[in-house]
Amino acid sequence: MKPPAASDGMVVYDGVSKFFPVRARPGREDSAELMVALDRINASVRKGELITLLGPSGCGKTTLLRLTAGLIVADEGRITIAGTPVTGPRKDACMVFQNFGLLPWRTVMGNVEFPLEIDGMGAAERRDRARDFIELVGLGAFAEHFPHELSGGMQQRVGIARALMRKPILIFMDEPFGALDAQTREQLQEDFLAIWSRTGATVVFVTHSIDEALILSDRIFVFETAPGRIRTVVESQVAAERLGGDVRAHPDFGKCRAELREMLRSEP
Ligand SMILES: Nc1ncnc2c1ncn2[C@@H]1O[C@H](COP(=O)(O)OP(=O)(O)OP(=O)(O)O)[C@@H](O)[C@H]1O
Ligand SMILES: [Mg+2]
Repeated sequence: MKPPAASDGMVVYDGVSKFFPVRARPGREDSAELMVALDRINASVRKGELITLLGPSGCGKTTLLRLTAGLIVADEGRITIAGTPVTGPRKDACMVFQNFGLLPWRTVMGNVEFPLEIDGMGAAERRDRARDFIELVGLGAFAEHFPHELSGGMQQRVGIARALMRKPILIFMDEPFGALDAQTREQLQEDFLAIWSRTGATVVFVTHSIDEALILSDRIFVFETAPGRIRTVVESQVAAERLGGDVRAHPDFGKCRAELREMLRSEP
C-alpha cells in the first residue's frame, strides 16, 4: 500500500509506532521489555473533518492523540500537520480533556482568557474575545462564576470556550463528555457540532461510545488492541444529518451502530 503523502491531509500518520517499557517484574529489574502501544498507524485526516478514534480501553487512542498534539514522541514513523512534522505542541492546536482541567481559583472569564494572557495579549482585547466565546458556549450569565459553582456540563463548556480562544485550526478531544450524564452529554454533542461547523476546525475526538462516534463523525477510525492498530476506517452514512437534524432518527442509524458493534466485538 502506498504510504499517505503529506499533501493528502491536514494530519497524516505515516507508519507511526509507539512502544512503552513493560514494568519490570521482581528479579527482572534489568529487563528492557517493550509493549507495542501503537503499531504502524497509516491514516490521514482531511482539513475541516471531524474524526473519532473508537476502540476498547487500552487500544492506544489517547496515545495517538498525545502524539498528534506533540505531547509525546513517536518511536517509528512520523506525523505531519499541514505538511509540517510534529515536533511539539502547536499554538494553532488545542486540547480538551475529560476532567475539564480548569483553574479552580479563576472565574469562567479568568479561565477562558488564560491562553491569551499567556500569549501577552492586552486585557481589553482578550476579554472581548473571551466574552464572545463564553456567549457562544451558552454561559453568558456565568462569566464571573467560579468552576465549583458550575455543573459538570457547564465546566466542560468553559473548557471548550478556552480551547477556542486561540482560534485553533485543530482541536484534540480526549473523551471530553465521558464524565457527564447521558442527557448533558447529548446536549453538549449537539452544541459542539454547531460550534465546530462555525469554526471550520479539524477535530480528532477520542471516544469509547459507538453512538457518540456516529453522532459526531465524518469518519470513524476503528481500533483493535494489543497491539493498537487502526482496524478499519468507516465513512459515516449518517453524517449529513448531524447539523440541525436528529442523527439517531436516521433510518440507517441502527444498522450503522450494529455494524460498528460487530467490528469491535469480533476483534481478532
Ligand atoms: N506512559 C505510559 N507508560 C507505560 N505504558 C503506557 C503509557 N501510556 C499508555 N500506556 C499503555 O499503552 C496502551 C495504550 O494506552 P492508551 O492510554 O493510549 O489507551 P486508550 O485507548 O486511550 O484507553 P482508554 O480507553 O482506557 O482511555 C495501554 O496498554 C497503556 O497501559
Ligand atoms: Mg484514553
